[in-house]
Amino acid sequence: MKNFISIKELSKEEIIEVLDTAKKLDNTDSDERRKIMDGKIMTSIFFEPSTRTRLSFTSAAYRMGCKELGFDNPDKSSIMKGESLRDTLIMVSAYSDIIVMRHNIDGAAKFAEEVTNCPVINAGDGSNEHPSQTLLDLYTLRDELGSIENKKIAFVGDTKYGRTVHSLSKALKMFNGELYFVSPDIIQIPDYILKELDQAKIKYKKLNSYEEILKDIDCLYMTRIQKERFDNINEYEKVKNAFNISRKDIEGKCKDNMIIMHPLPRVDEINIDLDDTKYAKYFVQARNGVPTRMAMLALATGIIESKAKRKEIDYEVVENKEMVCTNGKCVTHFEQTKNKVAKRSYGDFCYYCNREIGK
Ligand code: CP
Repeated sequence: MKNFISIKELSKEEIIEVLDTAKKLDNTDSDERRKIMDGKIMTSIFFEPSTRTRLSFTSAAYRMGCKELGFDNPDKSSIMKGESLRDTLIMVSAYSDIIVMRHNIDGAAKFAEEVTNCPVINAGDGSNEHPSQTLLDLYTLRDELGSIENKKIAFVGDTKYGRTVHSLSKALKMFNGELYFVSPDIIQIPDYILKELDQAKIKYKKLNSYEEILKDIDCLYMTRIQKERFDNINEYEKVKNAFNISRKDIEGKCKDNMIIMHPLPRVDEINIDLDDTKYAKYFVQARNGVPTRMAMLALATGIIESKAKRKEIDYEVVENKEMVCTNGKCVTHFEQTKNKVAKRSYGDFCYYCNREIGK
């Protein structure tokens, strides 16, 4: 059994194992594939809206013969009667072989791992991480560019709250990526992520526009400016139209084999006139969620045995009630947690939401 909580817990070997397993499952005869998880139950609990993640996990489960329980509207669960996330998770783990959870609170997935006794897959926790998205992004990069190594990737849009950006940047540390974070200053990539890139000696640059680097990059990774993450709506209004790329902005100005990715949903940041160009890979990317999530379900439950070792932990865990996480959206402020701190050589970080304590 293994959990997928944060991409940075995975070794490179493990990431490659997921991608190879996904490719194999995608090419497996559908009748054979339906036997793989026959008799197993996946419970998906979604506390935030989702189209792709929830439905592709469901599709992945069904394609392997796995049954599904769950809810996508917590208003219909006993959370509405005041039940804690902790108790909800304990109950859900009693009914399931695997839990797939999306939550609006940062660090909720790490907390779920602590309180349950069945495998947990993080389907997105607040603005923290989205590891299953990252694995399908890496699958897409490898398929479309032939390799993930040494690629120049520009993240454009909301790099502050964008959990897909955070998770993919952490993964690209392992593949010598050269990264550009293109955002208005108020939604630029947080320092606690850059600190990790600095540790890994990864090259990156913060920019306000993408035009100057367009000709050099292998992938333009667009993201939505996420209205729901802003505390102050006026701040959102200032940046909501920061990017709107269309065919005329791209054609003749980039590498011939550059690809455009987007975790979706999009709002206005990619004009539909790009959809039928050779650059547009965002719908293929979303489709790749099915094989990638099939691999995650099979490897997490141990139905397909994982041979890859997990990365060694690079921190010491201490329980310290005095060291309160300064991220007001962290699970430590909503649930009875053990207030764990991950002490690293380069700082003290919240064990649950990964923010640097006191910063
Ligand atoms: N990419 C992604 O997480 O999409 P959904 O929010 O629709 O699941």
